[in-house]
Amino acid sequence: MRFYVETFGCQMNIADSQEMGRRLAARGLIATQDPQQADVFLLNTCTVRDHAEHRALSLLGRLAEWKKPDRYIIFAGCAAERLGEGIKRRFPQVTVVAGAKSLDRFEEIIDERLPGLTFNDARERADAWGWVDAPAGALPPEGVTAHVTIMRGCNFSCSYCIVPAVRGREAYRPATSILSEVQAKAAEGQSEILLLGQTVNSYRPAGPNPGLEEELIADFPDLLRAVDRVPGVRRIRFMSPHPFYCNDRFVAAMAECRNVAPHLHLPSQSGSDRILSRMRRNYTRAGYLEILAKLRRAMTGISVTTDFIVGFPGETEEDFEATLAFADEAGFDGAYSFKYSPRPGTVSAATPDDVPNEVKEARLARLLAVTERRSLQKVRSLVGTEQEILVEATEGGQIEGRTPESRKMFAACARPVKPGQYVFARVEEADGRTLHGTAIETAALPQG
Ligand code: 5AD
Ligand code: SF4
Repeated sequence: MRFYVETFGCQMNIADSQEMGRRLAARGLIATQDPQQADVFLLNTCTVRDHAEHRALSLLGRLAEWKKPDRYIIFAGCAAERLGEGIKRRFPQVTVVAGAKSLDRFEEIIDERLPGLTFNDARERADAWGWVDAPAGALPPEGVTAHVTIMRGCNFSCSYCIVPAVRGREAYRPATSILSEVQAKAAEGQSEILLLGQTVNSYRPAGPNPGLEEELIADFPDLLRAVDRVPGVRRIRFMSPHPFYCNDRFVAAMAECRNVAPHLHLPSQSGSDRILSRMRRNYTRAGYLEILAKLRRAMTGISVTTDFIVGFPGETEEDFEATLAFADEAGFDGAYSFKYSPRPGTVSAATPDDVPNEVKEARLARLLAVTERRSLQKVRSLVGTEQEILVEATEGGQIEGRTPESRKMFAACARPVKPGQYVFARVEEADGRTLHGTAIETAALPQG
């Protein structure tokens, strides 16, 4: 049997899809990139905004045609958690519902509901965090970046956010399990490690780690230092940290770890203290800016990107102008801005969604103008610099990859290189967020 995976949403979901994929492969299924070749369609969904859920459901609707008696649809992830078994009334083509909270029971669910699976004793050994070995060749290669989940769930209760409801309370993966995955992937050549968690820097596992060099990994800074020491690891990234846990220990660990990439994606959501407090974000505008100042002192040139929500209930023109001024002052390297979307069951959904859509649209455009202007200033200042690119793809003498700050860069490169290698290149042009240039052929390729 073959399976096809379609993933909506965040990097956590990409990692979850890989985890589910390994479990299917351990049962004898083989991944395919072509849904028409597939017997099982795994649809991993997102519900963070109405639009995300809508996209997943419209694909599910189209799958009615794909479904045949001997084909199966697994409806998984955050929208599946929210909608539950009730989805089958609207979409009878769904075979199995496997919501985000039941990832640790994924094997039970598929073993019960999908016929024709091969018995594999890996399932007896796997736990929620355990690595399940997939037979060689059953899964497509993961790419140059290893996605490593370190925690699940969220203990915050931001008033607009549905994530705590669909992903549950925080659960931390034992450090021994994280480090053995990092070691294995780095040894196989994935030198960029992306540590994942809903609020990744709130990581605080209980108890000692027998057998580890670092007997006690008590928090995220400890974990960063441990991952930094793993042979073969060259770049460490993480998604998404919460400002509440960006304390001095965190800043010191980021600065001291040689392999931690000089980039932080730190959601801010708003620059108005009144709105931040209504959002229940647990920090103020000044507190956020202080974190940025500390980070920039400790890591000169670090790039910082963020998320904003515009049109939160009760957001006045004055609140929004505070956000504009904040975005300008913070000087973000990039920002993802979203229109507020009321999510069922959240605290803020109980108050009227009172900012009209035209106002939300206009604010989005105004915020974009500020964040684009600031990011363009940054990106232009990189023209003439040399960047180390981790190659993700190559085509006809052109390489595509990312700089340490996580900027996309294209470079002409005469020598043959493969994805996973590092190449130094000079930046000649910058448009939007993307850099263009030429590989410096005399530079040594440190890996390969
Ligand atoms: N409406 C709009 N944007 C939201 N986000 C989370 N919940 C909502 C919502 N209800 C945004 C936040 C978060 C990002 C992943 O999605 O900015 O950081
Ligand atoms: Fe949602 Fe807030 Fe938790 Fe992020 S920190 S997942 S925005 S509740």
